[in-house]
Amino acid sequence: MNIAVLGAQWGDEGKGKIVDLLTPNFSIVARYQGGHNAGHTVYANGRKFVLRLLPSGILHDGITCVIGNGVVVDPQALFGEIAEVEAAGVKIGSRLIISDKAHLILPYHRELDVLSEARRGERKIGTTSRGIGPAYEDKIARRGVRVLDLRRSDKLRALVERGVAHANAMLEAGGGSERASVEETLESLAAISERLLALADDVGLSVHRALKSGAAVLLEGAQGSLLDVDHGTYPYVTSSNTTSGGAAVGAGISPMAIDAVLGVVKAYTTRVGHGPLPTEFQEPLQTQVRTLGNEFGATTGRARRCGWFDAVVVRYAARVNGLSDIAMTKLDVLDTLPKIGLCTGYEIEGSLHTEFPGDLSLLENAAPKYEWFKGWQQSTGEARKLSDLPAAARKYLDRIEELVETRITYVSVGTRRDQIIGL
Ligand code: IMP
Repeated sequence: MNIAVLGAQWGDEGKGKIVDLLTPNFSIVARYQGGHNAGHTVYANGRKFVLRLLPSGILHDGITCVIGNGVVVDPQALFGEIAEVEAAGVKIGSRLIISDKAHLILPYHRELDVLSEARRGERKIGTTSRGIGPAYEDKIARRGVRVLDLRRSDKLRALVERGVAHANAMLEAGGGSERASVEETLESLAAISERLLALADDVGLSVHRALKSGAAVLLEGAQGSLLDVDHGTYPYVTSSNTTSGGAAVGAGISPMAIDAVLGVVKAYTTRVGHGPLPTEFQEPLQTQVRTLGNEFGATTGRARRCGWFDAVVVRYAARVNGLSDIAMTKLDVLDTLPKIGLCTGYEIEGSLHTEFPGDLSLLENAAPKYEWFKGWQQSTGEARKLSDLPAAARKYLDRIEELVETRITYVSVGTRRDQIIGL
């Protein structure tokens, strides 16, 4: 059985922990989109790991980890991360394979990311400044450089010349002072080329063969469904398809090979960066929940914006992904609150919407409608089955299941591996 595990809100749902727990049932864990903008926090062997580009399965011996063609790879970031996990005693060896069709993030992509944000003024996206968007832009504009291009130095020079020329035109037009250089870009690639090519392969083919011989694959999403470039709160999105359709494309396998899609949600909502968040808390609740949930970005350290659980959002994510199940994380963060809000619809220009609108201007004027639940005000951290949860917490979960029309199969009640219901 092959599954996709992905975020069903705006990212940071706690996918790392869920993937880590499910990994022993699979032989391959594959990342299919995004890059080192992701920050998957996993607590394992008494340590905290923040994985950005490496699939979370890397922490388990014997699991093959794959970086698919849909991912954009910054080689320096990749090798830095490999060094970090190896220093913590994780053995990678030949367990890591990178698609030779994956596009590279080049040094000028970072410059372009920073410059394009600066130029947006008040309409900033709030990107992670890792060059993710510009690398995907070059991919779609058909001037990207792929891992496999490192194999042919003459072709590589021509591609870099084209990329640098475009980047410099953009930097100049944008009033940036930096300029990209062909020679420096080629030098930085020469420094990593041999090592990266040693990890590179036709990932789609390897995974296809593994599937044929009975292996099971877990496709690990990054960011969240509402950050999907097609289905998210465009333009306040990332530049890839985070949803389940992207899993097949980005790993190079057939959609028919995916048997189930597990959506990870937080028991409330968070988002980093700009863009609408209809259920966003006011102060002092904002600071209170941010502190309780330690809601600071794993990659950038930015404070996350927090709000009540939005069933309109998750119901939408359930539809666009075809979610078969939900894993809810951080239920314990709500333990001390006296009352808990659950958004069931939006009032927009006098009418009630229970389906998520694609038009951002509607969303910006959405007034959330809440159902209020009595807080359970007791610790859930030791619950290991649903019946261990307080009745008030079960009521909250039941209502969410009803509204999003998807069953909640796992509930995480703390950061430790054993703090989970449903496994
Ligand atoms: P980019 O992916 O760096 O281009 O950023 C685009 C948007 O996606 C910004 O709002 C980021 O804050 C958001 N984003 C990117 N990666 C993550 C993530 O891993 N978790 C949550 N938000 C993210």
